[in-house]
Order: sequence, then C-alpha cells, then structure tokens
Amino acid sequence: MREGQNAVIYRADYQAPPFWIDTVELCFDLDPAKTRVLNRMKLRRNPDVPHQPLKLDGDELNLARVLVNGQGTSFRMEGPRLVLENLPEGNEPFELEIFTTCAPAKNTKLMGLYVSNDSFFTQCEAEGFRRITYFLDRPDVMASYTVTLRADKRKYPVLLSNGNLVDQGDLDDGRHFARWVDPFRKPCYLFALVAGQLVAREQKIAARNGREHLLQVYVRPGDLDKTEHAMNSLMASVAWDEARFGLSLDLERFMVVATSDFNMGAMENKGLNIFNTKYVLANQATATDTDFSNIESVVGHEYFHNWTGNRITCRDWFQLSLKEGLTVFRDQEFSQDLAGEASARAVKRIEDVRVLRTAQFPEDAGPMAHPVRPDQYLEINNFYTVTIYEKGAEVVRMMQTLVGREGFERGMTLYFQRHDGQAVTCDEFAQAIADANPQSRLYELLPQFKRWYSQAGTPRVKAAAHWDAATGRCELALSQSCPATPGQPAKEPFVIPIAWGLVGADGREVARGMHVLTQASETLALPEAPAGAVPSLLRGFSAPVVLEFDYTDEQLLTLLEHDTDPFNRWEAGQRLAVNRALAAIRGNGEIVLDTPFLEAMRSLLRQPALDSAFKELVLTLPAETYIAEQLDVVDPQRVHAVRESMREQVATALQDDWAWAYEQNRDNGAYRPDPVSSGRRALAGLALTHLCIAARSSGDGVWPGKAYQRFKDASNMTDRFNALSALVVSGQDLARPALEKFHAMFKDEPLVLDKWFALQGGAPDRGGNILPAVRQLMQHPDFNIRNPNRARSLIFSYCSANPGAFHRADAAGYVYWSDRVMELDAINPQVAARLARALDRWRKLAEPMRGAAREAIARVAAKPDLSNDVREVVTRALAE
Ligand code: PHE
Ligand code: ZN
Repeated sequence: MREGQNAVIYRADYQAPPFWIDTVELCFDLDPAKTRVLNRMKLRRNPDVPHQPLKLDGDELNLARVLVNGQGTSFRMEGPRLVLENLPEGNEPFELEIFTTCAPAKNTKLMGLYVSNDSFFTQCEAEGFRRITYFLDRPDVMASYTVTLRADKRKYPVLLSNGNLVDQGDLDDGRHFARWVDPFRKPCYLFALVAGQLVAREQKIAARNGREHLLQVYVRPGDLDKTEHAMNSLMASVAWDEARFGLSLDLERFMVVATSDFNMGAMENKGLNIFNTKYVLANQATATDTDFSNIESVVGHEYFHNWTGNRITCRDWFQLSLKEGLTVFRDQEFSQDLAGEASARAVKRIEDVRVLRTAQFPEDAGPMAHPVRPDQYLEINNFYTVTIYEKGAEVVRMMQTLVGREGFERGMTLYFQRHDGQAVTCDEFAQAIADANPQSRLYELLPQFKRWYSQAGTPRVKAAAHWDAATGRCELALSQSCPATPGQPAKEPFVIPIAWGLVGADGREVARGMHVLTQASETLALPEAPAGAVPSLLRGFSAPVVLEFDYTDEQLLTLLEHDTDPFNRWEAGQRLAVNRALAAIRGNGEIVLDTPFLEAMRSLLRQPALDSAFKELVLTLPAETYIAEQLDVVDPQRVHAVRESMREQVATALQDDWAWAYEQNRDNGAYRPDPVSSGRRALAGLALTHLCIAARSSGDGVWPGKAYQRFKDASNMTDRFNALSALVVSGQDLARPALEKFHAMFKDEPLVLDKWFALQGGAPDRGGNILPAVRQLMQHPDFNIRNPNRARSLIFSYCSANPGAFHRADAAGYVYWSDRVMELDAINPQVAARLARALDRWRKLAEPMRGAAREAIARVAAKPDLSNDVREVVTRALAE
C-alpha cells in the first residue's frame, strides 16, 4: 500500500459490522525475521445489517492461505483489505482460517508485533491488530481469544498473552509453547502477547470477597530492583477501585510488562498491560519524585481501564474519551485520595490544571482543535490528545460536581448494570450518570451539558462585579462565549458550574456557593458582604474555561493571602505574575518587579502554615507557553526574556529567603516519595535554582559550589537532578563538569540518560547556543532516533518544550524541525506526527518567525510519501 492515501472517516457514517466474530484461535510461531500467524475464527453474519461481502483489515502482512470451513476459497484484495465474497449464505456460524506471516524485527512503527531488546511485544490500539492478522479491526467486534505461542525456549523463556495460562510444554528443536485463554470477550485492540527473557516481581493479594489474585511485574533481568513502587501502586489501585467504586479485579492473574521501545505511556491490554519502562522502573537512585508519582498514576490509569475501557469499551474510535476521559478522571481521583491531606489533594489538582491550561488550551485554540467527541479524523492515532484525555476528564469531573460524589458513584453503578460487556458511546455514559440522579442539575440540563462533547474550543466566562453601596451587595454579571474552531464557526452556550466564594478584606470567608451558568449571559446576586470583599470565582477550577475578571492587584493579593480555596490562592499568584509579564511584553520588553509583588512572594515563601509543595507551585512563574497563549501575536524570545528577567528579580530580591527555604527543606532523612517529603525536595530544588541564578548576576561562587556539592553527595535522584538542573538552568560553568559526571555515573541507565538529553535540549537559550548543542548531541553514541523515549528526550525537549531556543529569527530551529519530522516519519509515523505538532500555533508568531514557520510546514507537506499521521497534522496546520 502507498502510505498516507486514506480518506477521512466521519462519525456520522458509523454502521454496525456486517459480521460478528465469536471466537478467535491464534497460533504464533515467533521468529524475529518471519513470524507465522495462524488465525482460526468463528464468524456469523450480523442479521441486522444488509447482506454484503466480508472485508477484513490488514496492513503489511504476507498472505499464505485462506480456508472457509476447511476448504480453499476465492478472495481478492481491495487495497490493504482482504475481501471474501463466496461465504455461506445463511446466519449460521462458519469457520475462517487465515495464515499469514509478518516481520517483527523490521517493525519500526512499534504497532502490531515488534521486537525490542530481543523480546517480542505487541501494540494493537488503535489499529495495530491488522498488522498481526486479517481481522475486523474495530472495537465493537468482541470475541473470545485462545492464543498459542511457540518460540525458542532459550531465547524466549517467558511466553505471555491475555487471560489464564492453560497449558505449556516443550516442543522439538529447543522450542516450547504456552497456551492462554482469556475468559472475557474483548475487542482486538486489547489483544497482547509478550515473549522474551524477562523476570517478574510477584505478589499474591486477597480481594475483599476473599478471592486470591496473582500480580506480576515483568522486566528485564537486572531491573527487578526498580519494580517495588510499580507493584505497590498496582496493589493500591486494586484496593482503591474496590473501595471507591465497588469494582474488583476480575482475573486470577494480572500482569504488567515493561518495554523500553513504546510509542505512548502504557497500554491496558486485558490482564497483560504493556508499559513504557518510564512508567514502571523506579528506585531512589534513578527516578525523581515526579517519576514516582507518574508511575503511580499510570499504573492506576491502566488498571482502572480494566473496567472503564475493557469491561465496557468504545463502539467506535470517535468515542475514545468514553474510556480515556473517564479513566484519567479516575486516576486523578486515585492520586488525590492517596495523597490524603486536603493540601496535598489541592497540589495534585493544581498540577492537573496546569497541564490542561498549558497543553490543552493551546490545542483547543489551534488547527488541531476538536471536540471531546470528534466528528472526523484521517488518522485515529492523531486523536490521542490532551483534549480527549484531559478535557475529557474535566467533563466527567463537572458531571461529578453536578450530581455530587455519591451521586456519581451511583451513576457508575448504573453504567455497569446497563452496559457491562458492551461497546457503547459517550451518550450512554452521560445518560447513566444522569438517570441515576433524577433530581440533579445534570439530569435537568443533560442535552445542553452534552455540548461539552460536541463543541470544540475553550469557553470564556466574563464576570463583572457591581457593588451596591447602599445594600452592601454584589451582583455579578456573567457572560460566556466560545471562539470559532475549525468547522465550527458558532457555538451554543455551555453548562458551566462555577464554584464561588466571597473573601472579606480581613481574610475571612463571608459566603460560598455554586452557580450553574447556562445562558449566554446571566446575573448572579451574591449575599451581603462587608465593603472590600473579593469574589473568588471558579474555585477548584470547577470548569475548563478561561475566566476573565478585572481583579485589582489589591484583590489578588487578598486572595493570595487568604482564600480558603487553595486553587484560587495559587491562581491569584499566577494572575499577578501573568499581568506583569503581559504588560512588559506588550510594552518595551523591560520589566521591573514591584515591591508589593515581591513582598507577597516573600511572605508566602515564609508562611509557617503552608506546605512546601504548595509554596513551590506558587513561586514557580507561569510557563512561557501559558503566557504566550494570552497574546495575539507572540515573539517567543521576548516572552522568554521577560520571564527570565522576572525569575532573576525574584531570585535576587528574595535571596535570603531562598537560602532560608533551602536550609529548611533540604534535609529529608530516608527517601520516601510521599507528598510531604517530595514537596520539601521540590521547594529545596526551586530555592537552589534561584540561588544559582542570583549568583550568576552577582558573580558569586558560593551557591554554585554548594549546588555542585549537592549534586555529588545527593542520596536520591530528585536532589541530584535538581542540583544539576540548577547549574544548567543558571548557566554556571560548573554545569559542564556536572553533566559529564552525571553521564559517567548513569551511562547504563537508559531512563536517566533520557533526563540527561532532555535537560540539555530544554535548557534556557543564551545567544542561540541550544540548537548547535542539540545537533551535536544527536551525534552522541547514546543518541538513537529509533527509540521513542530517546527521540523525545532530545528532539521534543528542544522543539516542543523550549520555545525561547526553538523560535529563532534565522529559522534554523524550523529547518531542524522539518528535517526531523521527515526523518522520523520514515521510521515511526506516530512519533513524527507528535513532533509535527510543535508548530501548531505558527499563525500567532510574530514575523519573521511566522513566515519561516509556514515555509517549514509547507516543506514537510510537500514531501510525496508522507504518512497519514503527519499529513493530517501539516495539512490542518496550513488550512485557512
Ligand atoms: N490506551 C492507552 C492509555 O491511555 C494509550 C495508548 C494508545 C497506548 C495507543 C498505546 C497506543 O492508557
Ligand atoms: Zn487510557
């Protein structure tokens, strides 16, 4: 097949499958160069659909034989599909046997069956199963699987697939076999196999009903000492889903396997989750606190899919957020519940919102904007987006807000009563949550609420306060609007839950409540309050919107100091910083931070009652991409310069306070990745960075020396990496020897080398020095563009996460980008398409960047043999 010539798929065109596949027996003779796959299926016609030929999906397969009920049959190819016309007429089941081969060692796309470090792995979501055998590769076709694996016993001692191991034994020629039966019907995207030299950490657990389960975490020999945290996270996930939603593990055996070649984070294959090593392997010497918490949420996420995704799956890929939005919501709740304390829960919420606003809001405003339930796609792989995942989770969160936590749990119970074992749509989910809560605002507003699924774009809520001096009451004029997005010029009003409070000038909370905004404009009368009370709106980020309210500095300072809602306390600090940054960027690019702002930051840093983790969030300035989103025309270098200057001033003005904070937080005793001690490490790290930045302006060598010492002596990766990063970020001379030493220490730890590359690709630009450094690092013997983690660590850190260095007036960053997109596209289209999105927002760029970026995109688009993945991204970027 020629690459990338497929047509656009529309949600409105959905039709039920013309055949059902009841059982699948797969038999693999595993060989890296040529694996033989025998696929024996029982099919029957779907009586609800007009009589038609059977068209099976396939991709890069070699077809050897097709038998129907044991007899040879005629068939033809229609592009990549195998078409069978002479099938038995009636609705009786018939047997179809297909024999194909494929070449796992040559599979650089990492979709279907592939080889990584001499082991076999599969990745089938979304449409990888068709690269293993001919099949109806769509999620609404659910079958029972029996899988036999045969392979060389010495090279591949471990043979795994979904479900239960029912038989195993030796064969001739040093080969052996294993047979697995999955007791649950599933769509083919949840199929998996693994074969190789692996070892497992094992844990037996008893469920609440007393049933025993075996949990296993498989890794390469030598990595076992990095599996404890993943296993603990898995046990916590099992317990949490039982306790919070009454959902228990439905399998005797639950396996997690790590591979270092993986396109995404992890995959929820039934009973056999396959993970990127990044989200499994951790010990204190090699992994940071962030890694530990990511592992916890990704292990939880994949485990929770067992119910939300596997037991109830998607009817078609337009419904992707049915499983992803809901499961992200569940993993966010899981992490919050594990964090425990209210303040630690708030920290997690702030982190989640930060991701939404720095990644999803730009997506929603750019050429790839799409609804949580898209209406069309060219390549489904391009729709594993922050909109489907993170905005989808916010939509589920709003449902919980509208029905209450218990009401939401009732809704989940009804959802499983109605749909367990089915492939359904987002409508069915929303209906179940609403029907279980007939008294709720969700029930009342459901059709309008579902606009969150159908309309793209980030709504803006404008709020204006009118105080009546006579009554002491405030009326809020609220209005909502939503910008046009591709294919959606006009939008209808959304249902927007707005949690609010009134904070007195003395800091006491006067009132609080919840208003559900449904009209284009409404007024909200707030209760009587003493003069000077400040409205605290959209508490906890109760809806994924941009809130516009003309806060005065004084009001923001009041909220920063006193708001009982920690989210809005943090938000007040962000607003103070963004307002200052924007004024400078729109002005002459100069910025001098005022005393009230600096004093507010100082006082927050010194507050005895606040958690270190929360302080670290408040004292971290808004990201460059977040600042850029507030501008109509962006000069990324100017944004970078202003933010750097703000950071320098916060560093210098608060030097003594940073030194104090460093001393207060730096010693943690024995390493534990819990919220309190990781918060302390985070604040100590931020302090050290600021101290090194201040030292750079003053030329003082004391703090860089201390950072270098810390880098050498640290007893865990968080402290070591933070010290290294402080030196690199502040451009200290000691950064060079520290980087060299770090590489020497961890040359055999791939995940740590990823950090080493990422730190250098993402470092602040000084006179255009980053691009040449990145080019040089591509020549490093440890660099390998074929490994997605490594490609991401260097290339993406530069192109997607370092705007000040990437957007160069000489366009060299864009030339580098287009070369890499084209190079990667020939290897792995999914990774290439993600990189292609680095220039999504090119239209906002100031000249000469804008024209140069367009030229670079056009250069990629002009390449004749692009994949669908990259072609869709660049075509949409260039579309008017
Ligand atoms: N379904 C996976 C998840 O979110 C993501 C994924 C998609 C992984 C496609 C691989 C390929 O948990
Ligand atoms: Zn998922």
